[in-house]
Amino acid sequence: MSNLIIKNATQVVTCSGFSGKRGKEMSDLHVIENGTVIVTDGIISHVLRAGEEVPVNERDYTVIDATGKALLPGFVDPHTHFVFGGYREEEFSWRMRGESYMDIMNRGGGIVNTTRATREASEEELVEVGRQRLDAMMRLGITTVEGKSGYGLDKDTELKQLRVMNRLNQTHPMDIMPTFMGAHAVPAEWRGKEDAFIDFNIREMFPLVKQEKLAEAVDIFCEKDVFSIEQSRRYLSAAREHGFLLKIHADEIVSLGGAELAAELHCLSADHLLQVSDKGIRAMAEAGVVATLLPLTAFSLRENYARGREMIDAGCIVALATDLNPGSSFTASVPLLFSIACIYMRLSPEEAVTAFTINSAAAINRADHIGSINVGKQGDLVLLQFPSYKFLPYHVGMNIVETVVKRGKIIFSICQ
Ligand code: NIG
Ligand code: FE
Repeated sequence: MSNLIIKNATQVVTCSGFSGKRGKEMSDLHVIENGTVIVTDGIISHVLRAGEEVPVNERDYTVIDATGKALLPGFVDPHTHFVFGGYREEEFSWRMRGESYMDIMNRGGGIVNTTRATREASEEELVEVGRQRLDAMMRLGITTVEGKSGYGLDKDTELKQLRVMNRLNQTHPMDIMPTFMGAHAVPAEWRGKEDAFIDFNIREMFPLVKQEKLAEAVDIFCEKDVFSIEQSRRYLSAAREHGFLLKIHADEIVSLGGAELAAELHCLSADHLLQVSDKGIRAMAEAGVVATLLPLTAFSLRENYARGREMIDAGCIVALATDLNPGSSFTASVPLLFSIACIYMRLSPEEAVTAFTINSAAAINRADHIGSINVGKQGDLVLLQFPSYKFLPYHVGMNIVETVVKRGKIIFSICQ
């Protein structure tokens, strides 16, 4: 049944809104105390204040008493690479000995290492591991996830990865937004022919992906020794002409000007931004590009965190994401994400919640129907074991999710 009443939640943390929030707006979560939320046929039909009467027949609904608990919109993870073959635990141990992520990549490891394993894996195998990873994310309160291709770097494997995500979108309770990332790295067969590889993506891959409706957005790894600003501009401009939304891995290792390019092209989001310039921050704020920050990646790579505090103070729309992938962030730990965002990136708990709900929905162009508790939005909810959203960063590293609801259906609960 997709009819649900969640009654008398100590906090209904609505995150109310239909678009990304910038600067100071990120601090107001529009909390209703002792509120009730009703989902009818999968859509939020009522958000009631304390004392307001339930205007539907409770016999037609599953009823949950949420006394002592906080209710939030389902979390939205707007940047992951969750479909991949193989693992890279050796590379992790090399990094712990002091080798850098880019050194390992430049000598044929990194993304290209995962590309080998992903090419070898069958579609069925990728569906199976993808499903397991989604199940784990769901238990952490994530109800919608973006996933990128980019571990194929050839026609068949890129399409295979996208098909896997589209199949999982049909069969898994979570919603998945697939992004085409043909320019994630340069595979061995294209080394030294980077411009031609960009052309291959533009001429062959974009039309195919579009024709088969396999992805809504296109992404590129704009980085020193990977794809230049000029190559990124060409690739993203062509993607726009094909009608794709634009995303960019920007200013992660080196301050190349990826954020400025994102602003110039009005990308939906610019992601990572560990090395973004002040000018890049201002440009993103002005252009309304969502700055998607990935604290678990900086943590795993032992890098300095992105300047989240400064970005919010400059009026940026800041979102958070896990970046789940086998190299730089083999984790989807939502608890750790919240704690690092608050403790090290100096976001307030309110800003962190905004960044992983309505703003992360905006980062994947879905703020009109998910990311907040508003009448008319999809009934995607997460109920915590504690009475306040403030426990999310405070209870460090602990999963405090009690129940997860997708379109009004309970898809996970520790009570069952
Ligand atoms: O977002 N930086 C580039 N891409 C991924 C990492 C992919 C990998 O190492 O497999 C990221 O961190
Ligand atoms: Fe990434």
